[in-house]
Amino acid sequence: PAPGWTADADVVVIGSGIAGLVAALRCRPHGRVLLVTKALLDAGSTRWAQGGIASALAPDDDPLDHLADTLTAGVGLCDAAAVRVLVTEGPDAVRGLIELGAAFDRSADGEIALTREGGHHRRRIAHAGGDATGAEISRALLAELKDSGVEVIEHALVLDLIKDAAGRAAGVTLHVMGEGQPNGVGAVRARAVVLATGGLGQVFSATTNPEVSTGDGVALALRAGAAVTDLEFVQFHPTPLWLGEGARGQQPLISEAVRGEGAHLIDRSGERFMVGRHELAELAPRDVVTKGITNRMRETGEPCMLLDGRHFGAAMWEKRFPTILAVCRHHGIDPVTEPIPVLPAAHYSSGGVRTDLYGRTSVPGLYACGEVACTGVHGANRLASNSLLEGLVFAGRIAVALTDDLAAADFAGTATTTDATTSPEGAVPGAATSPGAATSAHGAGEGGRGGPVAPDALRVGGLVDPGARAEIQRIMTSHVGVLRGAEGLGTAARELAALPHGGAEPGVEAWEATNLHTVASAIVAAARLREETRGSHWRQDFPERSDAGWRGHLVTRLAGNVL
Ligand code: SIN
Repeated sequence: PAPGWTADADVVVIGSGIAGLVAALRCRPHGRVLLVTKALLDAGSTRWAQGGIASALAPDDDPLDHLADTLTAGVGLCDAAAVRVLVTEGPDAVRGLIELGAAFDRSADGEIALTREGGHHRRRIAHAGGDATGAEISRALLAELKDSGVEVIEHALVLDLIKDAAGRAAGVTLHVMGEGQPNGVGAVRARAVVLATGGLGQVFSATTNPEVSTGDGVALALRAGAAVTDLEFVQFHPTPLWLGEGARGQQPLISEAVRGEGAHLIDRSGERFMVGRHELAELAPRDVVTKGITNRMRETGEPCMLLDGRHFGAAMWEKRFPTILAVCRHHGIDPVTEPIPVLPAAHYSSGGVRTDLYGRTSVPGLYACGEVACTGVHGANRLASNSLLEGLVFAGRIAVALTDDLAAADFAGTATTTDATTSPEGAVPGAATSPGAATSAHGAGEGGRGGPVAPDALRVGGLVDPGARAEIQRIMTSHVGVLRGAEGLGTAARELAALPHGGAEPGVEAWEATNLHTVASAIVAAARLREETRGSHWRQDFPERSDAGWRGHLVTRLAGNVL
C-alpha cells in the first residue's frame, strides 16, 4: 500500500519498554524525537518484569563480581568489554532511575533491599512493589516522558526500514491501527532509527512474553540487511506457573526471586532434585535449572515440577510476592499451603540485532537496544535481572553516539546530496527481499564454523497468512524448545518452509505472522548449525560443549548479504 501519511523526526524510537523510553528521553537534546509503540505505551515486556534489576549496589559487592557471574552464565560467549560497560555503568544508571522517582523496596535501615536470583553469588537485585519491579520502572519513565517533548504514536506496528541512496537508515514505514490521525500505512522520515521493539517469545506457543512480542525488530533488521546474531540462544525460564497440558500464550511468571528468597524445587515425591546437580542448587544459572527440571520430568514422567515456598508463611508471601500470590490464587493454587506447579517456557532472546558498545547496528543510522539487540552482554545465556539493566545502560549510550554520528551524517549528506527514499516499496515485509537467507559463522580466530543453510530453510519472501501463526508456534515448541536435535530441527525447517507465502492480504495480522515466520526460520537455521550444547542451546545429539569448534557466534543475514 502507498503511504497515506508522512511525518518527520530527527530520531524515531520504536518501542516503549525500558530501552525505548530511556532512548527517547536521552535523545531529546538531538531534536525532534518520535516514539512509536505497537500497542499502549506500557503493553510490552518491561511492565511484566518481576524479579528486579541487577547491579553492584551493596557495600560488599563489586562490579567485577557482577562481571564474573555474568561471564559464567554466558558460557564463553559474552563480549567481556560489553559486560564491563554493563556492570560498571549499572550502579549509577540504577541510581539515576531512583532520582527519577522509581521507588525501589527498602530494608529496615532505609537502604535499597537487594535479593538474589539464579547465577548471582551475591544479593544484588533491586526490586519494587515486592515483585512488580518492571511496572514501577515503567511508571517512573512514563511520568518523565509526559512533559519531555517526546512525541508519541501508539498502536503503530513498524513495517520496514527506509534507506537513503547511500544505504543509510532514513526512517521507517508504519501501520497505525485505530481511530484518529495518523491512521493506516505511513512513513516517518528520520535521521536516526532506534529499534527497541523487545522480544520474540511469541514464536513459541507457551511463553512468559506478552502478545506483542512477535520479533518485529529482528525481522525488520533482517529485511534491512542488518547482521543478527546468537539467535539460537532462546532462554527458557525455569518456573512459569504450569496451567495444565497444552497451555498456550502468555504464561504467568513465578520469579527467580522466589528461589532467591529460599523456595525449593521438588518433584512429586518431595525430592530437591537440583541439589547435587550444581553448587548453587536451585540458584544455578537459568539454563542449568531449566535443564534440571526437564531432565527430572523425563526421569519421573511427571508433567511439571513443584516450587515449594510454604515455609515463607502468609505474611512474607503477601509482602514480598503480592503479584505472584494473587496470580497463583487466581489459578486455584495457594503457595502458602501448597507447592506451585511449574514448567519452563520461552522467556528471553539472548541474541538479536548485533550492535557495538553504542547501539550501532551494521546499517548506518540504525541503532538497537534492549532485548531486540545483541550487545554481547548475554552470550549463550543471560544472567537473571541483567535485561532491565542492559536496556537502561545501552539505550543511554545511543544518545551519546548520536552526538558524533548525526554530525558525521550531516557532513556526508551535504557532500553526496543523497535523498531519502520515501517510496512505499518496502512497506510490505518481505516484498522487497529476495527469498532465502543464510546464517554464517562469525568471529575470525574464534573457532566459529558453519556455512550457508539449505536454501529452503529460510524462505521469507511474501506475506504469511495470519492463520499460520498457531502453526509456527506449534512447530517451534515441538522441535525447537528446551531440548533440540538434528532430526527435529530439520523437520522444523521443512515445515516452516512449507507454510504458504505470498497470498495473504496486507494487514497487521499478516505482518505479524510474517515476522514470526522470518524469526522462527532464522532461529532454526542457527540452531541447526550449532552442533554443541552451550547455555540455553541444548542439543541432545551433541550433548557436550565444544570450545574447540564453537567458541564463536553465528551471524544471520538475508541472502545476498551473507557475511
Ligand atoms: C524473574 O523474575 O525470574 C525474571 C528475571 C529475569 O528474567 O531476569
